[in-house]
Amino acid sequence: MPTDGWTPDALVKKFDTTRAYTEQLAAPLSPEDQTVQSMPDVSPTKWHRAHVTWFFETFVLADTEPDFTPHQSEYWYLFNSYYESVGPRYSRPDRGLISRPGAEEVARYRSNVDDRLRHVISSLDAGSLEKIAPVVELGFHHEQQHQELLLMDIKHVLSVNPMRPTYAGHPSERGEPDPLGWVDVEGGLVEIGHEGQGFRFDNEEPRHRAWLEPYRLADRLVTNGEWLEFMADDGYARHELWLSDGWGKVRANGWRSPLYWTELDGVWFEHTLHGTWPVNPSLPVSHVSFYEAEAYASWSGKRLPREAEWEHAVVSDGRPVAGNLADSETFHPRPAGPKTGHLRQVYGDCWEWTSSAYHPYPGYHPPAGAIGEYNGKFMSNQMVLRGGCALTPPDHARSTYRNFFPHSARWALSGVRLADGGAPVVTP
Ligand SMILES: [Fe+2]
Repeated sequence: MPTDGWTPDALVKKFDTTRAYTEQLAAPLSPEDQTVQSMPDVSPTKWHRAHVTWFFETFVLADTEPDFTPHQSEYWYLFNSYYESVGPRYSRPDRGLISRPGAEEVARYRSNVDDRLRHVISSLDAGSLEKIAPVVELGFHHEQQHQELLLMDIKHVLSVNPMRPTYAGHPSERGEPDPLGWVDVEGGLVEIGHEGQGFRFDNEEPRHRAWLEPYRLADRLVTNGEWLEFMADDGYARHELWLSDGWGKVRANGWRSPLYWTELDGVWFEHTLHGTWPVNPSLPVSHVSFYEAEAYASWSGKRLPREAEWEHAVVSDGRPVAGNLADSETFHPRPAGPKTGHLRQVYGDCWEWTSSAYHPYPGYHPPAGAIGEYNGKFMSNQMVLRGGCALTPPDHARSTYRNFFPHSARWALSGVRLADGGAPVVTP
């Protein structure tokens, strides 16, 4: 966590912008929408709104207010996500059972903490501000992570409602995707990981060396049309394409398509945040697990990229941090656009599964104290995803960002970019 040179005004301004965007995203949702938890991985919208507030209250106000008392002592317990150092917490899978505080009371909680935090920032001396500013900044990026989760979660909540409610946005255009192209990368001894100024999570450091054999990355994401070919070739029914654990999930859960697809009279439809529409073959496939991504790669005779390959290729290809992120307000992936000879759909559209397990970089040490629980303790049984998606806030994407989800997670807006060369491909 860096931050040099935050002035009180700049910190308050960024705080206000970040907090307002959360409320903007929640605005189309009724108090009833905001209360539902449709599965254990999903959190209610109002829980997200309260938890990010709890983060500022716990990690900033409790350390800086002279006579600190929580806004509500029960909130300390209800809205702690996973911080063992802070104390006990309410059961995650049961968050949808909590009808009170309601959405309005959560708004009052937010408003109270907002006022107190602005006051604290404005009244601190320079030394105290320098000490607390990195934690406030971490709170911004934490809230942005929950803005993305809020959208992923409400998508699932609305998907289980037979009335097929919509959130916002409009369908993407249709078009013919071009044949998959490739960008060749020389490899060799490269460096990955964050360096220099600018915010980064602790898991993006230290910068370190990695050896890459020459390789190629696909110049766009795998499309729905290509995924339909995989399905038509019995991709979900051929054990030889799947890792053993993945095949177990296929059998146990009856997977036969991406998460939000349903078949009606021989036509596949996809649930999106802007309604349920026939599957658009030119869009990137989305809401597939690591296991499905890996099986697709095996079927196509290719593989998934390692995270070092992804980062090195994106940086050496000079891709700007821009794309179909949340500010485009599509809230869904869109077609790749014309061929450019460069990597397309790098930032935005879909988080891209890599073949890299989420492990600490060489020399990584979690920060001291409760904040050390933010990332480090999750470095087990998860895979790294890169790039960002159509629900990611625009200043929350960067080349070194390491997202992570368990192998079987499908409710995240995840997709597939293929790699080739550089490492053995397992052919069935
Ligand atoms: Fe959180």
